[in-house]
Amino acid sequence: MTTLFLMVGLPGAGKTTEARRLAEQHRAIRLSPDEWMIPLFGGLEADGKRDVLEGRLLTIALEALRAGADVVVDFGCWGRDERTAIRWLAESVGASCRMRYLPVDPDTQRARIAHRWATTPHETLPMTEADILDGHAHFEEPDAAELAGRDLDAAPPGWADWRAWAAERWPSFA
Ligand SMILES: Nc1ncnc2c1ncn2[C@@H]1O[C@H](COP(=O)(O)OP(=O)(O)O)[C@@H](O)[C@H]1O
Ligand SMILES: [Mg+2]
Repeated sequence: MTTLFLMVGLPGAGKTTEARRLAEQHRAIRLSPDEWMIPLFGGLEADGKRDVLEGRLLTIALEALRAGADVVVDFGCWGRDERTAIRWLAESVGASCRMRYLPVDPDTQRARIAHRWATTPHETLPMTEADILDGHAHFEEPDAAELAGRDLDAAPPGWADWRAWAAERWPSFA
């Protein structure tokens, strides 16, 4: 059985650092959208292009799982619905999903984001104080049951299943 490792946490939590370690440990394919967004578009969102890019990366993730490779999905995944959709999709191709949540407080974020900017400026973009506060206002922290993968939520009303929901959340996912 193949495994999708799902990184969860705010900017500066250490997700990409941990994703690199997991990829090496499990010989997994790491999919970190920032590493595509910055070279392609010079920004992390670029007028909705991040959602399109993530849809393509998710498609590749499922292809890799089907082909026998483990993958690390390093999107951040602030929303419970996003995380549930990705778990459902992994399980739909016979893989397991293991969530890695890295909690972080704002002071630690500020220090790490400054460290990243000082050491690897080509891999990152500056972040504002508003970005940090906005993150804490919108992040949906996973609870113990969610982290353990128990009691998967049904797809929200109006969607046949999580695949249909994912195709709208991540245009280009197929
Ligand atoms: N556990 C840690 N302790 C201290 N510094 C860390 C830790 N994990 C990552 N860092 C540093 O913090 C910065 C942000 O880490 P990164 O992995 O890019 O976070 P994220 O991908 O969650 O935004 C980097 O400069 C990294 O070297
Ligand atoms: Mg990162």
